[in-house]
Amino acid sequence: MHLEILLVAAGVAAAAPAIDGHHRDQQVISNIQVGPRPYYLIDHMSDGPLKRKLESCSEQPITHAPAFSISHRGAPLQFPEHSREGMLAGARMGAGIIECDVAFTQDLQLVCRHSQCDLHTTTDILLHPELAAKCTVPFAPATDDTTAQAKCCTSDITLAEFKSLCAKMDSSNPNATTPEDYQYGGPSWRTELYDNCATPMEHNEYISLIQSLGLQFSPELKTPAVDMPFGGNYTQAMYAQQLIDDYKRHGIRPSRVWPQSFLEDDIHYWIKHEPAFGKQAIYLDERVDTAEGYRAAVASLPRLAKQGVRIMAPPIFALLNATADGEIVPSEYAVAAKKAGLDLITWSLERSGPLKKAAAEGEYYIQSIAEAITREGDMYRIVDVLARKVGVKGMFSDWPATVTYYANCMGLA
Ligand SMILES: *[C@@H]1O[C@H](CO)[C@@H](O)[C@H](O)[C@H]1NC(C)=O
Ligand SMILES: *[C@@H]1O[C@H](CO)[C@@H](O)[C@H](O)[C@H]1NC(C)=O
Ligand SMILES: *[C@@H]1O[C@H](CO)[C@@H](O)[C@H](O)[C@H]1NC(C)=O
Repeated sequence: MHLEILLVAAGVAAAAPAIDGHHRDQQVISNIQVGPRPYYLIDHMSDGPLKRKLESCSEQPITHAPAFSISHRGAPLQFPEHSREGMLAGARMGAGIIECDVAFTQDLQLVCRHSQCDLHTTTDILLHPELAAKCTVPFAPATDDTTAQAKCCTSDITLAEFKSLCAKMDSSNPNATTPEDYQYGGPSWRTELYDNCATPMEHNEYISLIQSLGLQFSPELKTPAVDMPFGGNYTQAMYAQQLIDDYKRHGIRPSRVWPQSFLEDDIHYWIKHEPAFGKQAIYLDERVDTAEGYRAAVASLPRLAKQGVRIMAPPIFALLNATADGEIVPSEYAVAAKKAGLDLITWSLERSGPLKKAAAEGEYYIQSIAEAITREGDMYRIVDVLARKVGVKGMFSDWPATVTYYANCMGLA
């Protein structure tokens, strides 16, 4: 992993011997660009050592794509999620690992989608009458007392049909009376500038693209939204195995693949049947969403470690706590995970929109530290506590530049 990062950093991967089937004729990114956002955030920090340290890196070229910076769904702060365009944007911003959430089609092919049933809000499927007719719930216009309805799943259509769709910003208008009106309605801080028919990705295309960029992979086995076994005989184990088989077929070394799931059984499946991949599996932990679940999750960490789980990934709020005087500190979960010898990864930075407004609304990702947030520049206080006090190994972000800048400035791999 480090060797490849260094090669990419030096811009010599293309000239180096083929690594893992990495093709000499494909283009790696040697000119990483973080754009103006990290500078804006630093400018809006309160004075202190962290601000001065981050400012001191302002004119330093970004020379490597750190595995610490993980692209979450591409770059969905601005680009349609899980599109080729979004993944390229994430790579240009220096993410060392790019994610593909995996769902299956009707003909059991794997594609990148955040949810098995989000095609009505993340693609233009409702504008294709012959495909829209296949949706689990076809479009129904809003009426005086009901919102517009639709539910379209990857498992409703074939891979070929999926690839005929345009990816767009995840949004919908609940008041729509036509499929055209239904397309837009997301928060104003996301943009539709790149919605001009972005390219949806099948899992195999994602693997080829990320391989050609010399970066690492984080596929997430999305929890099925249909009953399993699907179609009578496609089981959860077959689905979990198929995901791994795609990497084997491409000749990808397991050390470059970080498979994720919210289902504990999937993690145990990989540990047992595909140990080289399983030892890097990431258990996404949303048990923490309730107070009772949080306590149960903390209590389970020693057992999980004993069973061979190596990496836990709860949402950001579950790793942080705020003190009465507005300091951000590691939470009980963070302390317990370290004690159990587990590595941590967290999700998802840059998903909350304007930070101060999000804090005032008690938004999900920052709910535990809302009182400690007073300005946009607090984004880097969050990153810094996660990196240095909690000790996370990586951070999913909707805008990888923010994390890439920090990681480079702090010398994180
Ligand atoms: C839908 O209509 C309601 C009621 O008129 C309004 O409050 C809301 O802002 C509308 N939503 C959108 C996305 O247009
Ligand atoms: C699943 O069932 C279908 C149709 O019933 C059949 O064509 C297919 O071979 C079966 N697959 C497996 C793996 O059993
Ligand atoms: C947060 O800190 C408070 C005060 O120290 C403590 O009572 C509480 O248990 C902490 N919560 C978590 C989730 O760490």
